[in-house]
Amino acid sequence: MNVLLDAETIQARVRELAGEIERDYPEDENIHFVCVLKGGFVFMSDLVRAMGPRVTLDFIAVSSYGKSTKSSGEVRMLKDLDSGLEGRHTIIIEDIVDTGLTLTYLQDILRARSPKTLRTACLLSKPSRRAVDVTVEYVGFTIEDKFVVGYGLDYAEKYRNLAYIAVLDGT
Ligand code: IMP
Ligand code: MG
Repeated sequence: MNVLLDAETIQARVRELAGEIERDYPEDENIHFVCVLKGGFVFMSDLVRAMGPRVTLDFIAVSSYGKSTKSSGEVRMLKDLDSGLEGRHTIIIEDIVDTGLTLTYLQDILRARSPKTLRTACLLSKPSRRAVDVTVEYVGFTIEDKFVVGYGLDYAEKYRNLAYIAVLDGT
């Protein structure tokens, strides 16, 4: 496995993103994070700890890949949110935007729940693989078309716990 982004590089960028998000919303208004499980959990936990006390959070789970390294284009809801989004500044927290199909699906269903605003933050983006035009307001790193693992991202449920991002051999 080749390290693509080491832990220090990721931590510095996550702190930067947290600062950017804080500045983008009026000081007296709350921000609600929707973490996309499972891949978003590490990014989300570092992001919220770099932010002030006005953040609330919830979790949603969708499945798009199975054990393959290629997107099937099928998105299935596995776990819905605990609470509604009406009137809330909502930010979807996702590990990576690849084809964009998962995020498009999520943005559509969450927008229908009348959030005050809806934005998306992704640690990684692979623009060369985009199949649909999807808007992501906060991107940590833009990467090439390689299958990566670590910092939440898995291959067949493994490697999510790595503190860095690595390229899986043979992809
Ligand atoms: P999309 O619908 O093609 O944009 O796929 C997004 C989802 O696919 C992400 O939430 C990841 O779970 C998964 N995914 C895409 N690329 C990678 C990768 O390089 N490594 C691990 N998971 C990936
Ligand atoms: Mg995912």
